[in-house]
Amino acid sequence: MVEHPEASEDYVIDQGWADYRAEDHAIWRTLFERQSRLLPGRACREYVAGLQGLGVAAEGIPDFERLSDIVERATGWRIVAVPGLVPDDVFFRHLAARRFPATNWIRRPEQMDYLQEPDVFHDIFGHVPVLMHPVFADYMQAYGRGGLKALHLGALPYLARLYWYTVEFGLIRTGEGLRIYGSGIVSSRAESIYCLESEKPKRIAFDLMRVMRTQYRIDDLQESYFVIDSFDQLFAATRPDFTPYYQELKRRPDIAPGVVLTSDRLVSAGVAHGGDRPRQRGARGRTDEALDRIAAD
Ligand SMILES: [Fe+2]
Repeated sequence: MVEHPEASEDYVIDQGWADYRAEDHAIWRTLFERQSRLLPGRACREYVAGLQGLGVAAEGIPDFERLSDIVERATGWRIVAVPGLVPDDVFFRHLAARRFPATNWIRRPEQMDYLQEPDVFHDIFGHVPVLMHPVFADYMQAYGRGGLKALHLGALPYLARLYWYTVEFGLIRTGEGLRIYGSGIVSSRAESIYCLESEKPKRIAFDLMRVMRTQYRIDDLQESYFVIDSFDQLFAATRPDFTPYYQELKRRPDIAPGVVLTSDRLVSAGVAHGGDRPRQRGARGRTDEALDRIAAD
């Protein structure tokens, strides 16, 4: 966590939009153009529609105020600037009030492919388009409320896994095939390709308790992804009171990432619905080449 003595109780700061330099906007544009080329056919419809609806931002780092006016009209959410990662309770209070805390700094040219902490590109390009979708918007608010409760119950590590495997690294099954909705994926060139097309990771049908038992890696591409069928399914999973779930989770062992249980339903990358399996197979060679190029960069 970044310590900022000037931060207020809710850690909200001025974005300082006028202080971004030309090179900061140039980094944004490079990332934006690169991901925009990669995402058609990979990101889900809801994400793509949200990005289009925002009208952000090919030209540079968006002004959060202008961006918020658009998101607020769609789903009642606003974006507030914070100086980096904020304490859990602060984060959850923002979400519960339909405010998304986004950091205001942008990575340096040497950090294009790897960051230890989220920057403004991840926070805005990754998270905000899906906040334009009414059901996902409600899910995020429910998550914030659930987070405050989990803190109180000493259950935060379990709930954090739900955020990780949905908001950050979620996949969704669609009529056209598997698609991405997780912000950690859509903002990453390597993971946008790897999560859908590599043979390595496990893609497991979403199951709330399974997700909350599963540890995750923060320092590498994911070994497991969880696949939802719809945002409605995700939101419905958060409706019950989690208190008995947490009690059960405390009695059961954690599951390492990459492990497959006999009870898991695996989702094929080449995807269950109909006819695009051969196309996916055909794409494999090009995908491996693309991953090789990324690895060589
Ligand atoms: Fe994130």
